[in-house]
Amino acid sequence: MNSPTALSYQSGFGNQFSSEALPGALPVGQNSPQKVPYGLYTELLSGTAFTVPRAEARRTWMYRIKPSANHPRYQRLERQITGGGLGPVTPNRLRWNPHGIPAEHTDFIDGLLTLAATADAEQAAGVSVHLYRANASMRRVFFNADGEWLIVPQQGRLRLATELGLLDVEPLEIAVIPRGMKFRVELLDDSARGYICENHGAALRLPDLGPIGSNGLANPRDFLAPVAHYEDIDAPVQLVQKFLGELWAAELDHSPLDVVAWHGNNVPCKYDLRRFNTIGTVSYDHPDPSIFTVLTSPSATHGQANVDFVIFPPRWMVAENTFRPPWFHRNLMNEFMGLIQGAYDAKAEGFAPGGASLHNCMSAHGPDNATTTQAIAADLEPHKIDNTMAFMFETCSVLRPTRYALECPQLQSDYDACWAGMAKTFEKGRN
Ligand SMILES: [Fe+2]
Repeated sequence: MNSPTALSYQSGFGNQFSSEALPGALPVGQNSPQKVPYGLYTELLSGTAFTVPRAEARRTWMYRIKPSANHPRYQRLERQITGGGLGPVTPNRLRWNPHGIPAEHTDFIDGLLTLAATADAEQAAGVSVHLYRANASMRRVFFNADGEWLIVPQQGRLRLATELGLLDVEPLEIAVIPRGMKFRVELLDDSARGYICENHGAALRLPDLGPIGSNGLANPRDFLAPVAHYEDIDAPVQLVQKFLGELWAAELDHSPLDVVAWHGNNVPCKYDLRRFNTIGTVSYDHPDPSIFTVLTSPSATHGQANVDFVIFPPRWMVAENTFRPPWFHRNLMNEFMGLIQGAYDAKAEGFAPGGASLHNCMSAHGPDNATTTQAIAADLEPHKIDNTMAFMFETCSVLRPTRYALECPQLQSDYDACWAGMAKTFEKGRN
């Protein structure tokens, strides 16, 4: 286990960053000189097609000890991600209790399980939702060819040793790892658990702010990218990749985390959710929860996200003459929710930290019976919802649970009951 040391970062989102771990390692004035300083090899990692509009383009130039092409044939791993393919599509509301930490030796890749996806893994479209549980640091290195990963730790601190440098993340922080970026997950505590949104679509970015203006929500400078950090290790290392949903491995004779210098905007980053500038009503009613969007991946339909990452952070509730929990709703979009800490203000019980819920397109949901009754009767004073952090992966495509998710003992069989028995309070003539 590593003892954490304070790491250095570069601040900003989508910037053209540059970093070198040795002085003068980064070529000046060109990307691919004939002779690279220190005898390094040049390699490009592109996260978008070459010809997308300039504002969309994501790419990073790396200067490394060995090019990534220096690997033997990949072999399909026997141990695959738990999930078992997609199960029967259901319009039912689903909720899961938290998954425990396995007793046997489990690294971050061993402990992956897929709860839901918008398409079969071979299609790698839309989004997939995974959970991770681990009790051991990875000794191998991983990359995902199927999409970028938004990692949401719920328990335990992680050190992400990436090709571009080190990121330490803890619960209430998130990390984004670009598609194809190699990394190793080390545990800084005894165990770790959390959620992953695998985004197969356009890269995550900050949402436009519209009338909110030029500040607010997640501010760009609070996103932190790593500085160059390399390993010069000539020893066997297994490199695992996820390709169309399956795990494949190649045995390298050196560490693939050997990038000495780099520049570009296709970079991993982290963000502290406690820095989110939360906006809400100061008069009556609720704005739509889109005001809680941290990052968004647009779809081809303007304004309709492939996936939004939305949080429900601590905040003051001051609305007058207003039903303060989230209203009852039936939405076009599909909502996967998780809870990092505390309680979610729409549910009195049953939605625990580490748990999850899924409300697909047009499924009716909202506050449970107990919360509703209490909210209607409450004397409305300014009230702070504190010590909480729920989140949502909201996607325009239906999330289909995996067979595993529909069969695991964590699936609650009585979720519908939280809305059952609502009293009929309608009285004709009463006003
Ligand atoms: Fe909802």
